[in-house]
Amino acid sequence: MEEFKRVSSLLTIEGVSKRIHGKLILRDIGTKESPFVIHDINRPNRIQGQTVAVVGASGSGKSTLFKLIAGIYPPTTGTIIIPDEEKNNGSFKEVEGGDIGFVQQSYPLSRNQTVQEMLHDAAKQGKIPKSERQHVVDSYLETWNLKDQRYLSKNQLSGGQKQRVAIIEQIICSHHFMIFDEPFSGLDVRNIDDVKNTFEKITTTSDLGTIIFSTHDIHLAVELADLIYVIGFEKEKGVCKPGGTVIKSFDLMEMGLAWKEYGAPHRELNAQIQKLIKDS
Ligand SMILES: Nc1ncnc2c1ncn2[C@@H]1O[C@H](COP(=O)(O)OP(=O)(O)O)[C@@H](O)[C@H]1O
Ligand SMILES: [Mg+2]
Repeated sequence: MEEFKRVSSLLTIEGVSKRIHGKLILRDIGTKESPFVIHDINRPNRIQGQTVAVVGASGSGKSTLFKLIAGIYPPTTGTIIIPDEEKNNGSFKEVEGGDIGFVQQSYPLSRNQTVQEMLHDAAKQGKIPKSERQHVVDSYLETWNLKDQRYLSKNQLSGGQKQRVAIIEQIICSHHFMIFDEPFSGLDVRNIDDVKNTFEKITTTSDLGTIIFSTHDIHLAVELADLIYVIGFEKEKGVCKPGGTVIKSFDLMEMGLAWKEYGAPHRELNAQIQKLIKDS
């Protein structure tokens, strides 16, 4: 098995539930029996961020969970804790909007601004000093192949370009931690590779680079993730309990499946997860 060490925790979900208009949407995420903790991982001689997949049937609560993690709205019970980077003294705090980058499926980019203006705003939000902003924006436009689109606005961009702008916006303003809700759905093969490369870029440029993503494609989850959480509905005497919860998690690092080519053990895990989702 590949050598690795778990260091400090980067995100801890404890006893989280969410009720919307009286309806229980999520229940008991992060318990003693089924912890939801993402650790900083150290691998010898490597920069190693983490990729975490959340999978589950449509309507099981993945997007709702992501909105809680991104601090878009508060949990009904429980807490979501992250390191307090501003204090930088090893203390932790509850997550707030803006702490974690959130790339939604619809890329809600500003309608009136140019790409360059949007990225400047992101840099300002990300507290990048004014004198460095132009340089930071230029280098992202260059590496993400968007230099020619600098003066275009949302409606003038292709789907792939919109996605890249939305991703850069989040990377610039939130640094390490990124959530992607269904980043692969509706993409063609080339753009799927673009997103895979993005993931790799984020998790190989900083030890703290962490991605949480959801997908319907279990093959992609098993191929890309180091940790997989399966969300579904628990059954009691054959009846589904209300509220999506973690019905199973897989630590691919412990299983010796992380950071490897997709092979027979990955195929087996894929089949096991598909069955879990079908039965939940
Ligand atoms: N703002 C809301 N108001 C009422 N119901 C909601 C709201 N957001 C989500 N839901 C419900 O919560 C459940 C989970 O939705 P969602 O988190 O989008 O699941 P997933 O992303 O796994 O498909 C669904 O039944 C959905 O209808
Ligand atoms: Mg969703």
